[in-house]
Amino acid sequence: MSTKKLLILAGDGIGPEVMAQVRRVIDWMAKKRHIAFDVSEGLIGGASYDKFGHPLTDETMQDAFAADAVLLGAVGGPKWDNLSFDVKPERGLLRLRKDLELFANLRPAFVFDALAEASSLKTDLVKGLDIMIVRELTGGVYFGQPRGIETLPNGERRGVNTQVYTTSEIVRIADVAFDLAKKRGNKVHSVEKANVMESGVLWREEVQKLHDAKYPSVELQHMYADNCAMQLVRAPKQFDVIVTDNLFGDILSDCAAMLTGSLGMLPSASLGAADAKGNRRAVYEPVHGSAPDIAGKDIANPLATLLSFAMMLRYSFDMRAEADLLEQAVKNVLDGGLRTGDIMQAGKAKVSTTVMGESIVREMDKLA
Ligand code: NAI
Ligand code: MG
Repeated sequence: MSTKKLLILAGDGIGPEVMAQVRRVIDWMAKKRHIAFDVSEGLIGGASYDKFGHPLTDETMQDAFAADAVLLGAVGGPKWDNLSFDVKPERGLLRLRKDLELFANLRPAFVFDALAEASSLKTDLVKGLDIMIVRELTGGVYFGQPRGIETLPNGERRGVNTQVYTTSEIVRIADVAFDLAKKRGNKVHSVEKANVMESGVLWREEVQKLHDAKYPSVELQHMYADNCAMQLVRAPKQFDVIVTDNLFGDILSDCAAMLTGSLGMLPSASLGAADAKGNRRAVYEPVHGSAPDIAGKDIANPLATLLSFAMMLRYSFDMRAEADLLEQAVKNVLDGGLRTGDIMQAGKAKVSTTVMGESIVREMDKLA
């Protein structure tokens, strides 16, 4: 890819503060590596509402379509909580995901050695943990028809949701998972409940077929979702890539995330369809929200957003060396004892958002 068109949507609350640290890394790459990103910035969420009366304008949506990847901060806050449903900050985020047709949600659970003690599990169970959960995001029981609440002839009420998956929906999410596994540990666990659900039977068949036809060298195991939940807290290091549906993925990704101990450390990506050259539409963002309780104080942890940027380098731009460099810098800075308040431990040095960002760039300088 020659030009790297990047749209930054910093959003609300701590969004702009953490995004400023990514800007340092982008500037460093331009100066020290001669890697020029074509960066544009736009408004989303409450910031966009305040200026334009809408949480995501058509113009910004056009910019998102024109970009190779979007880096998002977070949206929302008490200032906009009483707005009507249509113009709430979250609607901007939902429109972005929907219009870009982002069907694959990537949620890594990665434990830095320096923070392994922060996990609720025993340190040796999580030390070195590196899982990627690939959750289907636009299908399944959250969207299936029929749905609703109905009143039966006998007066009883009944709530209905429907789990539906088509072969093409299964194949495209499995394709993302296998492709990622080849860039990582070469192992995929496909998770459903084929023992009690027909959609799970189809899921299992289609994943196996795709594997045999296109990815025979990737190790594939099928696993029931309830067992997967147990295995995640019993022996999480057995996993590399987990691919699963919308509902199971919602729960399993939150469970896996907490193995790592801190919200301020968790990146994510959402991917859409690939174009003819194999480039996918993509939005990268931290898992955390706009943290209004600490916004404007220069104390937020910027690492989730910096690690989201590293995912962008790795998965959208195939800049693996630069992604490794940034991740190594994060690791070294943590090993060196620097902590923002949310990951503070006894005996470590508490630093601001700005100092954390500056320290990462200084470390990249040392490593490069
Ligand atoms: P939150 O993730 O913003 O905050 C939860 C707690 O974690 C807070 O105490 C916060 O200070 C802390 N925290 C979060 N990120 C942190 C960071 N990087 N460094 C240090 N501490 C951090 O979730 P909450 O409080 O439920 O929601 C706040 C606002 O964010 C709401 O308006 C909500 O709708 C929105 N939100 C937006 C999301 C998004 O844009 N993707 C996701 C989740 C919530
Ligand atoms: Mg959730």
